[in-house]
Amino acid sequence: MTKFVQSAAGTFNPSNTLIIRKLSKKIREYEEIGSTNAEMQRLLGIGDLEEGIVIRADYQSAGKGHQGSTWMSQRGKNLLFSVLLTPVSLPAEEAFHLSRIVSLSLIELLGKQRINAKIKWPNDILVGSRKICGILIENSITGGAISRAVLGIGLNVNQEQFDASIPAPTSMILEKGCHFDIQPLLTEFRRILGKWYGILLEGQGDRIMDRYRACLYRLDKPARYADHTGVFTARILDVGPEGELELILEGGEVRRYGFKEVEYLD
Ligand code: BTN
Repeated sequence: MTKFVQSAAGTFNPSNTLIIRKLSKKIREYEEIGSTNAEMQRLLGIGDLEEGIVIRADYQSAGKGHQGSTWMSQRGKNLLFSVLLTPVSLPAEEAFHLSRIVSLSLIELLGKQRINAKIKWPNDILVGSRKICGILIENSITGGAISRAVLGIGLNVNQEQFDASIPAPTSMILEKGCHFDIQPLLTEFRRILGKWYGILLEGQGDRIMDRYRACLYRLDKPARYADHTGVFTARILDVGPEGELELILEGGEVRRYGFKEVEYLD
């Protein structure tokens, strides 16, 4: 059995053995379900599932977003799915690598359709300043490592009208003016995700972090933010190893933020 000694960001495969795991091609599809993430968790509660299995739905009646919000999506228009990964050798403090590889896979998928998207730390994919995709990752930690990760993705594909309560949404059809077939997008996403996951398991976390930085929305651009001290102008320097946002203020002060500690202002 391969024993990993360091971290995914460094060299954690000392014997240099090939450790790329083959992801399952299995898929469970539903016309309607509460939430694909919740369904994955339900099935995991009943028994083990193969790594890579996908649950996809045409419609979610209780789609989950961040901070207890609801993810709304018109029936049959969008790509709503969850993927299971079991990166048992990934230390819990490196969980943000999973967000990185999912985001990079989405950027690459959209890039293949000539949609230039960026990653708005920590979990959104934007085109310009409009949100085209949301990511909800639910991790289970066992013995300080990630035993299971349910990667939930809602990509706006063919939806043209959105509820007025959704701030600045967009979709592939709105960006490109043409309809997209859902299934080929999912197949291509799984291929790309498998590639980035392999890069992670090979211990090339640095490569992932470099690419992620290059894809950040507002990288190095002066913009307004708010934290518990008030509103300020800063530039994004990077996202640190554990997923913390690094901002540099006009005077040179560097501030680091965890999730929900800072807000992007317009
Ligand atoms: C966000 O708030 O931006 C995250 C939204 C994530 C939505 C997706 S849709 C498929 C999967 N199942 C869910 O219930 N949520 C995620």
